[in-house]
Amino acid sequence: MLLSVEGLTIEAGGRRPILREVSLAVGKGEIVGLVGESGSGKSTIARSVLRLLPNGAKVSGRVLVSGADVLTMGPAALRDLRASQVSMIYQDPRSSLNPVRRIGDFLTERMVLTLGRPKAKARARALELLAAVGLRDPALIMRQYPHEVSGGMLQRVVIAAALAADPALLLADEATSALDVTTQAETIALLRRIQAERELGMLFITHDLHLAAAFCDRVHVLYAGTVVESRPAKELFEDPRHPYTAGLLGCTPELGDPRPIRPIPGRPPSLDDVFDGCPFAPRCPQAVDACTERLPEPVAVSGGFAACLEV
Ligand SMILES: Nc1ncnc2c1ncn2[C@@H]1O[C@H](COP(=O)(O)OP(=O)(O)O)[C@@H](O)[C@H]1O
Ligand SMILES: [Mg+2]
Repeated sequence: MLLSVEGLTIEAGGRRPILREVSLAVGKGEIVGLVGESGSGKSTIARSVLRLLPNGAKVSGRVLVSGADVLTMGPAALRDLRASQVSMIYQDPRSSLNPVRRIGDFLTERMVLTLGRPKAKARARALELLAAVGLRDPALIMRQYPHEVSGGMLQRVVIAAALAADPALLLADEATSALDVTTQAETIALLRRIQAERELGMLFITHDLHLAAAFCDRVHVLYAGTVVESRPAKELFEDPRHPYTAGLLGCTPELGDPRPIRPIPGRPPSLDDVFDGCPFAPRCPQAVDACTERLPEPVAVSGGFAACLEV
């Protein structure tokens, strides 16, 4: 397995852990979605794959990339992991680039510094990558500064940079969330093409369950740091079994859906909210007394599991 997260628990001083017993896996050529409201722990999972952990965090469980445990590996292995095995793409491409350096320098410097490529080779490779992500005039883009190109073009540059070392695993953390719908659709199509061509494994993080269901093979739904449902995308979308998953689908209906929009009542929990039972119980339309008394165990449902007493 390319990525295997096993029982990952991360505590960082809050009244409850940021993540509790999270397990998920991404195979070669597989797109796995991670969905949940803001604060549910999505970015913490992605960052832990690069061992970027909160300061002073207490961590248990394992994070294996191609079988090697990221949480315990030595400095040389960790450098190699970050430089050439796993790449991360963030929401805001402008935060990844230095505004006063040319785009070409951004692309080539990384290859020279972390991969030890000679400068001329790095430059040739940068031009090749910019063409591969669908940018029409790579030589011009190389000379431009970040503020001279659009957000969508810049996200393509960031994707090109992520591919520079031929990683096996791509972590896309809300990589299309800041883009307008047309640019988002183009960027999704690009990610899909690149993923298929290179047989990349991808962890695709989004707060948009519809997008995840359309793009991913399997989707994990995260709530308050725990995976509450994990299913193949199509089944999750057509027959959600956890009330939170159903709630997420119900509050973002698609065009032409005659059902009224039903927002999930209440707000996502903070790290100060502690639970004896199901963390979603206070907001759940189907909650019964038992839900607040003990944590629901995952129950096997078609293609995966849902952690709910009422499944
Ligand atoms: N470095 C950190 N130290 C302490 N708490 C953190 C740190 N990073 C994230 N958190 C907290 O962990 C929770 C999950 O955050 P995050 O993983 O960023 O969620 P998401 O990406 O789903 O919005 C939030 O409550 C956040 O405030
Ligand atoms: Mg996040």
